[in-house]
Order: sequence, then structure tokens, then C-alpha cells
Amino acid sequence: MEVKMINSNENAKNMNILMAFFSATGNTKKLADVIKNKLEDCGILVTIRDITSYSSRVEKLSVDEYDAVIFGFPIYSMRAPRVCREWLATLDGKGKKSSVFFTYGGFGKDPAHYFIKKLLEKQNFKLVSTAEFLGAHTFNRSGWKAVADRPNESDFEVAQDYVARTVTRFSGDDSKEVGEFKKPMYDESQFDQAEKYRFGLISQLPTRDSTDCCMCGICEKLCPVNAMDAKTGIANDSCIACFRCIANCPDNVLHTNDISNSWDKKLELHKMTAEEVESLQSRIYL
Ligand SMILES: Cc1cc2nc3c(=O)[nH]c(=O)nc-3n(C[C@H](O)[C@H](O)[C@H](O)COP(=O)(O)O)c2cc1C
Repeated sequence: MEVKMINSNENAKNMNILMAFFSATGNTKKLADVIKNKLEDCGILVTIRDITSYSSRVEKLSVDEYDAVIFGFPIYSMRAPRVCREWLATLDGKGKKSSVFFTYGGFGKDPAHYFIKKLLEKQNFKLVSTAEFLGAHTFNRSGWKAVADRPNESDFEVAQDYVARTVTRFSGDDSKEVGEFKKPMYDESQFDQAEKYRFGLISQLPTRDSTDCCMCGICEKLCPVNAMDAKTGIANDSCIACFRCIANCPDNVLHTNDISNSWDKKLELHKMTAEEVESLQSRIYL
């Protein structure tokens, strides 16, 4: 129903939308691709800015030529990744409309919506919608088992609806901004503390553990924070544990420590069963 409505939305046609996304292991990019295709089906011009690499975030970005901006981020430690928040803080939204979609591995996603709204408004963007999509948890590569088969067709369907509803807001047919999100129980400094939890878990940062390496250097080239040294095959302390090097290693010789023992504790911490995590659905917020 919504999708049909947007196809006939004349105001949306010829809009010029920027979509900027960060995707270390590909889930957020999968959603970005579906969203881009749907926007183009609506006659919208879409410019993509992939901000995963270090150099792409250094380059200055102006939103002047765009009617609206869509941001796509994974959720890291319950918020958008720090590198993305730092990049957002360099932008001037000039009062333009924006929307944010997240991918996440099934845990603690609510603070991400609350804090991104605060940040975007501070940067002078108007936020009209947000969405969250399930995406295999990055740490599955070290032994967890969270939503391994996501995103799937049901998530992509929600993404189509997300485009329809968001574009209706961008085009002015529905000019509301997104509603308020519940304030988290903890403040930002406590979330900063929680961010360090990942290094308690991933105590051995990505390291080459085999001689079967073709020395292609992809791990070093792709690292979003310039933390990987291809010669030594060890990531330094700037590593954000995004696993981009591990996911893209053609020889599969980069690994962290095995964290499979912590999976049951992770479920316990979030008071969820494995079945409850698997049955989570992607969601749109208006
Ligand atoms: C450092 C780090 C922290 C993460 N924190 C969370 C989290 O708090 N909640 C969650 O559900 N998933 C978390 N994840 C999982 C990612 O949000 C999820 O796998 C996402 O889809 C990855 O996106 P990408 O493939 O585009 O990089 C985390 C992943 C990483 C690397």
C-alpha cells in the first residue's frame, strides 16, 4: 500500500538525496543497496557516500546540493560507531531533512535512536524518521550466534516501506519530524565506559595466525581507522574491533580470540533467550 503510494508521489520525483553509510562487514551496505534501488524506482536521484574508509571521512562534505540526507550506520555498543559520530559532528545540516537507518545484531538498540536524534539536531538537521534492521552480529565471526541469517527478505521488505514513508516526509506530503525517543537510563559518559566492554571480550585484536597469507595488504588498505599493519599482521590499539579486515581477508588468516563461551552470558545479560533474539523484527520509527 505504502509502496504504491510513493510510486505515484509526484513531489518526490527528481529529488536529490545523499545517502552516506558506514559498513565494515557488509550488512549496512546490503540495506543501503535496497534503499538506493527503491529511491531510484521513485524517480529520485541518489548520490552515495561510503564513509567506511578513513580517507572518505577526512574529505569535507557539504549538503548544499541535496534536498535531504539518509545516513546508514551499524550499532556499536548501543550507539552509532564513534568514528561515525565524530564524522557527523563535522557536518552542517543547514536545516535539511534527514533520516537514519541502523543495522544491529539483536541487542540494546534503543539508545542509538535517542542519541542520533540529539546529535543530528545539534548539527542542524531535521530528523524525519529512523529505522533498525537486523544484521548478523559482527562478533559471530568470533563465536557468537546472533541473527546469523539477517538481513533477509523480511528485513528488505521493511526497508521498502521505510523508503516510502521517509520520502513522503522528505517531499513535504507529510512534513512531520520523528517523535521523541525514550531517554536512556544512563548518560553519554556511561555509554562511553560501556564502549570499552568490547575490548574485554575481544582481548586479542585481529591478528594473522597462519603463514598462508598472500600479503595482498587488503587488511591494511581497508581498515577504517588505519590500525592494521599488513607486514606484522597485527592491529594496533587504534583498532575499533569492526572486523573489516577479518571479513575481507581473502586467505582467512586473520582472527581474534574465540568468544563462544560468552554467548550464554550475553543472552543472560540482556534477559533474552536465543529464540527471542532470532524472532526480532526490523522496525521503522516515525
Ligand atoms: C564493536 C562492535 C559493537 C557492536 N555493538 C552492538 C550492539 O551494541 N548491539 C547489537 O545488537 N549489535 C552490535 N554490534 C553488531 C553490529 O551492529 C551488526 O553486526 C551490524 O549489522 C554490522 O554492520 P556492518 O556489517 O555494516 O558492519 C556490534 C558490532 C561491533 C563491531
